[in-house]
Amino acid sequence: LKPPIIRNLSELHALWSSWRMDGETIGVVPTMGALHDGHLSLVRAAKARCARVIVTIFVNPKQFNSPLDYENYPRTEEEDAQKLSKYGVDAIGVPTGSIMYPPAFSTTVSIKGLTDVLCGAHRPGHFDGVATVVTKLFGQTGATHAFFGEKDFQQLQVVRRLSEDLNLWVDVIGCPTIREEDGLAMSSRNLLISDRARVKAPTLHQALTRIATGLAAGTPFAELKSKAVAEITRAGFTEVEYLDLRANDDLRPLERANVPSRLLVAAWLAGVRLIDNIDATAP
Ligand code: PAF
Repeated sequence: LKPPIIRNLSELHALWSSWRMDGETIGVVPTMGALHDGHLSLVRAAKARCARVIVTIFVNPKQFNSPLDYENYPRTEEEDAQKLSKYGVDAIGVPTGSIMYPPAFSTTVSIKGLTDVLCGAHRPGHFDGVATVVTKLFGQTGATHAFFGEKDFQQLQVVRRLSEDLNLWVDVIGCPTIREEDGLAMSSRNLLISDRARVKAPTLHQALTRIATGLAAGTPFAELKSKAVAEITRAGFTEVEYLDLRANDDLRPLERANVPSRLLVAAWLAGVRLIDNIDATAP
């Protein structure tokens, strides 16, 4: 059964407020569409945890750094709705651009510190765009729980921070990255990788795994990093934006994985920016 697509905020509000009145939990999976197995794993996690599930689809112009990137972002609403029909989702929220950002719209949600590093340092305004739209999506859907992939680890930490700082009472749940058989992290952007470049893409995950093994054996991060950057570049990536070892809680840089920590990378392959990360915490 295809879930109803709701574009109108009052309609969505009527629906979720009746659920809340009945004491039901509402799990929200915010997406920009072009759904893949990674998104569907979030939907499964939401179904397992919550009485009601809403998936939102909105390609958020405020989080793109270039108009071309925004235009090229895949849009596959019909297929997305079809995919969701197997999961018992209660509603698909698809706000239009003018509903999300009417002419008088003037608010920005901005998080300090966590957003100054990694993707935040390379994509000015990106996390302001994410934080603003996520805050709105939480309000639009009456979310009690929200499900985000660890694939966007920095985004997950930013959303956790904002939910706590602004007392939104949304339980933010991180779900493991889903990978292709060769290790490439699933992402809607993978649709943009050419066939020729696609064979090189798993290098990113391989490099991270090698670093994690080296860290566990006691090798300092700096040494492992320079080898990994050389490996990624040799594979045909044109630029490694960052490759860092960071503490999970505040994303401060680390030299050893002696606290809960993450290895994170962003690199360009044939005009497509790919990101990935893995747990690096010492056992
Ligand atoms: O991860 C995404 O797809 C987007 O950043 C999100 C969370 C849906 C906000 O637009």
